[in-house]
Amino acid sequence: MKIAILAGDGIGVEVTREAVRVLLEIAPIYDLHFEFSEHLIGGDAIRRVGNPFPDETRAACLESDAVLLGAVGSPEFDRLPPRERPEGGLLRLRTALGGFANLRPSRAYPALVGSSPLREDVFAGTDMVIVRELLGGLYFGEPRGTAEGEAFNTMRYSTDEVERVARVAFEVASGRKKLVTSVDKANVLETSQLWRATVERVAKDYPGITLEHLYVDACAMHLVTNPSRFDVILTENLFGDILSDEAAVLTGSLGMLASATIGGKVDLFEPVHGSAPDIAGRNLANPLGAIASAAMMLRYTCKNEGAADAIDRAITKFLDAGHRTADLAKQGAPFFSTSDTGALIAQFAVDAANMVHAYHAV
Ligand code: IPM
Ligand code: MN
Repeated sequence: MKIAILAGDGIGVEVTREAVRVLLEIAPIYDLHFEFSEHLIGGDAIRRVGNPFPDETRAACLESDAVLLGAVGSPEFDRLPPRERPEGGLLRLRTALGGFANLRPSRAYPALVGSSPLREDVFAGTDMVIVRELLGGLYFGEPRGTAEGEAFNTMRYSTDEVERVARVAFEVASGRKKLVTSVDKANVLETSQLWRATVERVAKDYPGITLEHLYVDACAMHLVTNPSRFDVILTENLFGDILSDEAAVLTGSLGMLASATIGGKVDLFEPVHGSAPDIAGRNLANPLGAIASAAMMLRYTCKNEGAADAIDRAITKFLDAGHRTADLAKQGAPFFSTSDTGALIAQFAVDAANMVHAYHAV
């Protein structure tokens, strides 16, 4: 399998290195063959070639089976207009790959319930996936721009765009707790009324799945008062961006969260966190979100549930053993560096994989 690595900016470089390490170490056990190639994106690409999404990167990604991305963003480009910024490069990458459904799982690891900003009894048992529409809405709507004394963006959705992402949400729910919560602002926005009507129509094809609707403000509230009520949250691009940060931090740290973007020509996998310039280059970043994203690649693109599972179990084992990355450690307590975390997860994943193999041999 050809995997394009776009490490990008800040801690993206460090966390992606660990994700690749874990993939390389477990590959032989599952007879997986990866061909990795590295390409420029984001601020790093602006600095080197003056473009946050160079043509070379686009071509290489489109020839790959999957893209593994670190993070983009750098304060030195804060004054640029949106499309010229590092983030603009990421949005162009997403458009080029065509994946419209962004899956962001968020769950309570038992070892981390005490690290959640929520009370343990509120957060325990939480296990949800946010399915975020990734190619529409305010991020891409035209017209957009600035005029004398004003600026404008357009929220626009077609029924087709809503329908295809809704189908993904119902499919995901059918393998889980069978509840889809569609989130919109249908009391105010036309796009949300279209969203709601379309999701209702799609739901008829999935009689085994319960559908409910929530306004986005109410959803934001339920996420902190009763997060364990959710299974699959289906929502548009900007609402999904905001709610997924909220859902992520409930787990104890934004650094834990992985994502998969599917449905297009090439699947894209990236941690939910950003480039964290304040801690970049210091071996302090939490690579677990990036490593869990690599596990999602094994699951969705390689269709290798066993290998994905071995990594997921390695992460649980690491946390259960009381090991903490800097973002999760209590003030002053010892913690694992980025590279030590990656090395130990790789070892645990190999152990988990070999254990299953030995079991099958018996
Ligand atoms: C995310 C990020 C991106 C987004 C930015 C970097 C463009 O916040 O993946 O959630 O808004 O989609
Ligand atoms: Mn975001």
